[in-house]
Amino acid sequence: MRAGTRHLPLIFSCLELAQAFFKVPCSNPLVVERADPVVQPGIPASHVHTIMGGSGFGFTMDYNQTQESQCSSCSATADKSNYWIPSLYYQAENGSFTPVPQNGGALIYYLQRPDPNNDTVLAPPKDLRMVAGNPMDRKFKDTLEAEARSYACLDYEGPAKPETNGFPNYNCPNGLRTQVFFPSCWDGTNYDSADHKSHMAYPNQTYNAGPCPESHPVKIVSIFIEVIWQTEDFADSWYGGSQPFVWSNGDKTGYGLHGDFINGWNVPVLQEAIDTCDDSGGDITKCAALTLYDNAVTEGCLLEPSIEEEVGGWLEALPGCNPVQPGPDDAKATKNCSAPTEIGKPQHYYTDMTESLGWAWIGCARDNANGERVLSESSSSGDDMTVQKCIQTCEADGYTYAGLEYARECFCGNSIEAEKMPSVAPMGKCLHPCSGDSSQNCGGAAYIGLYQACGSSCENLQYPAVPY
Ligand SMILES: *[C@@H]1O[C@H](CO)[C@@H](O)[C@H](O)[C@H]1NC(C)=O
Ligand SMILES: *[C@@H]1O[C@H](CO)[C@@H](O)[C@H](O)[C@H]1NC(C)=O
Ligand SMILES: *[C@@H]1O[C@H](CO)[C@@H](O)[C@H](O)[C@H]1NC(C)=O
Ligand SMILES: *[C@@H]1O[C@H](CO)[C@@H](O)[C@H](O)[C@H]1NC(C)=O
Ligand SMILES: *[C@@H]1O[C@H](CO)[C@@H](O)[C@H](O)[C@H]1NC(C)=O
Repeated sequence: MRAGTRHLPLIFSCLELAQAFFKVPCSNPLVVERADPVVQPGIPASHVHTIMGGSGFGFTMDYNQTQESQCSSCSATADKSNYWIPSLYYQAENGSFTPVPQNGGALIYYLQRPDPNNDTVLAPPKDLRMVAGNPMDRKFKDTLEAEARSYACLDYEGPAKPETNGFPNYNCPNGLRTQVFFPSCWDGTNYDSADHKSHMAYPNQTYNAGPCPESHPVKIVSIFIEVIWQTEDFADSWYGGSQPFVWSNGDKTGYGLHGDFINGWNVPVLQEAIDTCDDSGGDITKCAALTLYDNAVTEGCLLEPSIEEEVGGWLEALPGCNPVQPGPDDAKATKNCSAPTEIGKPQHYYTDMTESLGWAWIGCARDNANGERVLSESSSSGDDMTVQKCIQTCEADGYTYAGLEYARECFCGNSIEAEKMPSVAPMGKCLHPCSGDSSQNCGGAAYIGLYQACGSSCENLQYPAVPY
């Protein structure tokens, strides 16, 4: 990066490595719900989070559970970590809220920045978890933790605008990028702490580089998360002279942004990547230590939410008890609202037909690969397609498998070749609403949602079917 350092061959590799980084792309959120296994384990979290990473995620978590992930929405196969930040909403003039769509999932930077006094940069130990930022903040507090949270207003045509620590008060033509830099100095002993922060610290001069304080002498790799929101979709819907976006924790200022990390890396593999990946542009495909998932896996890796409440559409209040608290005083926790306080049953993306029809969900499979269909014996289609209709059609014709695709197509058959069974396509690829009932899902583009006759001993496949 800095040409001036290049004439010292001995230091060359060291400096190059010190300036290198790699970016782990996450194609989409794994799940959006009130979950926070770090701060509020075992209960619905106080506010909605947009959660990325391994499908082992749950309301209570340890390292072992991350390792049970069957897929991840982030692309390094050795990374079964979870990363989350609050979810962004637009608040309309009438007070209602609706989610701001995300542009992709997240980009997680791993920056190999050593302590100037010590070249060693460690992978986080396996049980490490941490929080950056504070959801109660409503003003800039002039700390490293406050500086570590920022906003980039994306405008690919216009002159670059300076990054801000609160929400910018102008439209961002290419979206709003929200950024959280995690602390990179560890106390060397504790994997967590009561406030989920004290075992970690920022370097003692700037949040993103420099020497670690004596209290937290162990330099781990710097983790920096970026999430882009399509705030430009609301460019014509501003009112009242101030920006209309609010974090799910009731924060209209932007200072209450926060991020959580729970380590799920294969630690030796991450250490190898830290020690050897030297691309100055951060291109993860140039990092030989890491293997990447196929995009179909990361894009399709979804977890079923389990809190019985809407977090999308138009909402009269933010999920949980999160009145908008404008600051500048710290927000106060509010509990006296009617939001669910229990974790419910997983809300399935498939339609449960075990009791009504005696057919079970068996998974989402890639279809029509090389022109070959998973189920080819009979097909029908229509604007009134539903899961029931397809199954009943197949059953009436004596078939034992039924598959739905492209919202309106139904395929029947009596057998599925082993290599065509669901294996490369996690649930997220079969989420096209049925043409005849938008509350059900009828497969996807070149992905078929499969059901099988199972009579009296019916059990739906536990999601997800096959480890990735
Ligand atoms: C996690 O898994 C390891 C290896 O399988 C095992 O030794 C350890 O006891 C497990 N830890 C917990 C807390 O279950
Ligand atoms: C509030 O305004 C939005 C945007 O105009 C609209 O879609 C929504 O239905 C309104 N909600 C209520 C409760 O009127
Ligand atoms: C910051 O780092 C320097 C260099 O290692 C060290 O001498 C100093 O004591 C540190 N300051 C604090 C407040 O920890
Ligand atoms: C550098 O940091 C590592 C990891 O914390 C530690 O084991 C080692 O002793 C340090 N080396 C020096 C010279 O301080
Ligand atoms: C909840 O408590 C706050 C402050 O104590 C009060 O202002 C508000 O009216 C209460 N809301 C409900 C729904 O009871």
